[in-house]
Amino acid sequence: MKAVVTQEGRFLVARTSNGTDVSNQIDRNVRRAAMETGKECEYVNGEWIVSGSPAPVMHNRYTQPEPEQIELVTPDAGHKEVTEFIHNSVGLKPESLLMNDLKWKYLVRSAMRGRNIMMTGPAGTGKTVAAKELVKALERPDFYFNLGATQDPRATLIGNTHFSKEDGTYFAESLFVKAIQTENAVILLDELSRAHPEAWNILMTVLDLNQRYLRLDEKDGAPTIKVAPGVSFIATANIGNEYTSTRIMDRALQDRFITIEMDQLDENMEFELLKMKYPAAHLPSLKAVSEIANLTRKEMKSASPKLSSCLSTRACVEIASLIYDGFSLTEAAEVAIYPFFSEDGGVDSERTYVKQLVQKYCVNPETEGEDLFGADDVAGDAMPF
Ligand SMILES: Nc1ncnc2c1ncn2[C@@H]1O[C@H](COP(=O)(O)OP(=O)(O)OP(=O)(O)O)[C@@H](O)[C@H]1O
Ligand SMILES: [Mg+2]
Repeated sequence: MKAVVTQEGRFLVARTSNGTDVSNQIDRNVRRAAMETGKECEYVNGEWIVSGSPAPVMHNRYTQPEPEQIELVTPDAGHKEVTEFIHNSVGLKPESLLMNDLKWKYLVRSAMRGRNIMMTGPAGTGKTVAAKELVKALERPDFYFNLGATQDPRATLIGNTHFSKEDGTYFAESLFVKAIQTENAVILLDELSRAHPEAWNILMTVLDLNQRYLRLDEKDGAPTIKVAPGVSFIATANIGNEYTSTRIMDRALQDRFITIEMDQLDENMEFELLKMKYPAAHLPSLKAVSEIANLTRKEMKSASPKLSSCLSTRACVEIASLIYDGFSLTEAAEVAIYPFFSEDGGVDSERTYVKQLVQKYCVNPETEGEDLFGADDVAGDAMPF
């Protein structure tokens, strides 16, 4: 895609051949350089550049076969087929999921080999998204249980006793009972770390590779249901000190899983994600959001941190959606960044610290995000937008 840049009043406007105004997708410096050199702007590898300049490096692209060339195999296929599939599976990782290729491959391998997988990592780093994408990629029967939201683990995992006039008292088994009896099913146990300890007790035998059964009752000799061949469990958990509402998970339960840790995205990956989700949003503002998030994360991890929490990728996606809907960075920060940080301590508060951080990126509330030609003259250390 190409666009021609013209000056309209004080604005540098970039239009594609069908007249669509794409100015807010193209960095002002790129538009200006294109106009000054009489060249067009061109969309290459996910970025707008001046036509003819070197193509930007691509991130997160497949080096593997195209998804349609990868033949899906079931866990009971021969060793050679399964191994080949595992090593080709990077091609099945959706572009929208930013996750280390090796970790994705390990995720696929663990699911193919019937391991119990626990996705760990800070809030909003894509644990649930990765688990859901894996299920989609493998095209296996899938079942989803949010254990963090479950008040009654016994009813969710085993079932309920009901009464009707016709049948008297009868037992209605849960969806989970059906799930574990479905061959090759992938069962998501979302937010396992927030689950009620009773849920953990019920799951102990189910997850033990040497037992693999669900006991319908605590009584000795109570009926049990066997977990069908090929069933894999994927749990998600926030494990770490900063997650106060998360219960300390039982060590024996944790031991029943292999762990895959989701990494926090770095600044560039974060910007890639935001651009991918909102390509038509004001890109310099999205860049600023990724930088601000990164600074909060660095600060939180520093030796004497001034922040006890940071902006998650989930929060960045939400802020980007506001920017896409025309909110300025200042406005988006007001409603979607500052509320995450405490006001306690007045001028020394975490919120004040973050406000100072954000303000460096906001030239001034009136002009921020607008395509002002010549806004380079703005004073101070502000980011030129
Ligand atoms: N690595 C990533 N790749 C793609 N999108 C991501 C990634 N990390 C976060 N996101 C975005 O952030 C949102 C939250 O991700 P997700 O729900 O998977 O987080 P989580 O790690 O499960 O968080 P929590 O611990 O709060 O359950 C997603 O909707 C997605 O838009
Ligand atoms: Mg989650």
